[in-house]
Amino acid sequence: MKISQVVSKIPGSPTLALTAKVKQLKAQGKNVIGFGAGEPDFDTPDPIKASAIEALRRGTTKYTPVDGLSELKDAICANVYVDYGLKALPENVIVSCGAKHSLYNLFLTLFEGGDEVLVPAPYWVSYPPMIELTGAKAVTIDTRGNDMQLTADMVKEAITPRSRGIVLNSPSNPTGMVFDPHELEKIAALCVENDMAIISDDIYRKIIFDDVEFFSVATISPEVASRTFIVDGMSKTYAMTGWRIGYCVGDKDVIKAMSRLQSQSTSNPTSFAQVGAVTSLTGDQSAVEERRKVFEKRRDLIVSKLKEIPGFEIAPPQGSFYSFPSVRGYVDRFGGSEGLAEYLITSALVAVVPGEGFGAPDHIRLSFATSEKNIIEGVDRIREALAVL
Ligand SMILES: Cc1ncc(COP(=O)(O)O)c(C=O)c1O
Repeated sequence: MKISQVVSKIPGSPTLALTAKVKQLKAQGKNVIGFGAGEPDFDTPDPIKASAIEALRRGTTKYTPVDGLSELKDAICANVYVDYGLKALPENVIVSCGAKHSLYNLFLTLFEGGDEVLVPAPYWVSYPPMIELTGAKAVTIDTRGNDMQLTADMVKEAITPRSRGIVLNSPSNPTGMVFDPHELEKIAALCVENDMAIISDDIYRKIIFDDVEFFSVATISPEVASRTFIVDGMSKTYAMTGWRIGYCVGDKDVIKAMSRLQSQSTSNPTSFAQVGAVTSLTGDQSAVEERRKVFEKRRDLIVSKLKEIPGFEIAPPQGSFYSFPSVRGYVDRFGGSEGLAEYLITSALVAVVPGEGFGAPDHIRLSFATSEKNIIEGVDRIREALAVL
């Protein structure tokens, strides 16, 4: 069968492919250490599971409203009020099958052929393909020369009359960096000036370290808030990646249009998963903080271990559960970080994600959503495999 041109151009997600490869090697009995995970290694907290099970028993097994259960939309509004100080109404909220789905619906609703969307690089692997599926062009802004920090000057230089939006992800996947609030204020002003939408992917906002504080552009002013779309979900904060519940909060007309799109594609996200999501937001939040602390400890460990490897350069991530060292010297030797990653999985049975898919071919991504034991053994294996070169 002929595959459409649009889809032919879309690369599969490299991170999901790596996760599948690690699972396959483990099934063959190989002692693989995986640093590929884009998900917490913790389980979903029991009260969340219990509420979904109870919902199934009660018969919450039918279609829900396309844009989500009203209880969930109310819980999202309450959460946005507490965490951002913003008064969102249910009509400003759509619940989708994961934040990824919200992002895709949002991009399709906002952008089309001829538009340009600014994406700071390194970026999460899915932004450019999703933007390009709409017909728009993803214009990347390389922040590698500035310690992965996006500045207003960089944004200003990238803006053209075709610019329709910018994607901000802070804390960032893959860099773990948090953008400077002062720069974000100036960037937001540029977006107002140039009538651009701001897509604020806040999915790692609860996994943040040291005394760094989460700052959202949506809180700058009502004018900025009116063009900002907050995208978030339960996957990372509540270890619910498999549940596929995410959401978008923003301008009601755009949300309504996204809902029309969703009504003709997936319909509502899974009914009982939405009930679990209500519990995640309204229930006891202590697990979130406990887990954040665990990630922080692991961040310290992986950074100190990676620094032991000659030729690896790493700035400590300020949030998320990813470390993203520069491995330039080795990359030259292997003709790209894909070659390096292939060498490490073959010779050391260690899985890392090559930087190419994130727009940073001189880096590799190591997730620290894995045990301290794995971090120690895995990074030791990498060091030893590279020492023999
Ligand atoms: C930056 C970023 N945004 C969005 C997502 C999507 O998360 P989900 O669709 O599981 O809610 C991910 C997942 O890896 C991510 O890293």
